[in-house]
Amino acid sequence: MRRLLPEPAAIGVDPYEAYGDLPRLRLGMVMSADGSVTDAEGWTDGLGGAADFRVFRTLRALADGIVVGAGTVRTGRLGPARLRDDLRARRGGPPAPIVVVSRSLDLDWTLPLFTEAETPTIVVTTRTAESRVPGRLRVVAAGEDDVDLPAAVRALREDLGHEHLLCEGGPSLAAALIRASLVDELCLNIAPTLLGGARHTRLLEGLDAEVPLDPAALYLDEGVLFVRYRLRA
Ligand SMILES: NC(=O)c1ccc[n+]([C@@H]2O[C@H](COP(=O)([O-])OP(=O)(O)OC[C@H]3O[C@@H](n4cnc5c(N)ncnc54)[C@H](OP(=O)(O)O)[C@@H]3O)[C@@H](O)[C@H]2O)c1
Repeated sequence: MRRLLPEPAAIGVDPYEAYGDLPRLRLGMVMSADGSVTDAEGWTDGLGGAADFRVFRTLRALADGIVVGAGTVRTGRLGPARLRDDLRARRGGPPAPIVVVSRSLDLDWTLPLFTEAETPTIVVTTRTAESRVPGRLRVVAAGEDDVDLPAAVRALREDLGHEHLLCEGGPSLAAALIRASLVDELCLNIAPTLLGGARHTRLLEGLDAEVPLDPAALYLDEGVLFVRYRLRA
């Protein structure tokens, strides 16, 4: 991976070190150059290739909790967090838990994400719905009938000790976290491809205000551009 900004580096940079300055909440997503976060299959695997996966795995290994929206879980493609041996050694412990945010709890509890995770998956939901989460799972209840995202993030940090969070999307949850001013950094991996087509899914769904960004770093690896933006407070 080559660093182009803040100043170009002559030799390759190690993603684990490059992304090691952890913000409190980092949003990490991949999209095509024409702005789609889903590939032709409606998932993300076909977008960024091996270079994207290296950074994806690195961001997971660095995080204390990996937050995803229920819509992403409902694709059925999200497995439990796993760590490769090299990243496990650098992290010095098991993977961070996946944290699923859902109001409806319309989720398939038989998915490996809920039954086979080395670090048990956490469900964030409302106080009204919390009793419907299977007892073997950890639950954070925040808000009465709608998920109170600031309260949920506070509980993840203060009650469960997950200080540095990574949100992997999808577009609805990502926009909701930005609306609530909870996102400090956007790590956008731009795949060198134009997708077009009917399956085009935008990066953010439901963001109704302009949010200024400060570019903080730019890397290039196998044609994928890795941009890091700070969100202005
Ligand atoms: N390229 C990438 O990096 C990337 C990453 C992730 C996902 N994706 C793609 O994105 C798509 C899924 O995205 P999505 O937007 O449909 O779903 P999503 O953002 O993953 O999840 C949305 C769901 O989160 C729950 N939620 C709880 N509180 C919320 C709040 N305040 N605001 C918003 N959501 C809240 C709701 O679940 P309930 O409905 O259960 O109440 C809501 O339906 C999939 O196609 C996936 O492949 C792409």
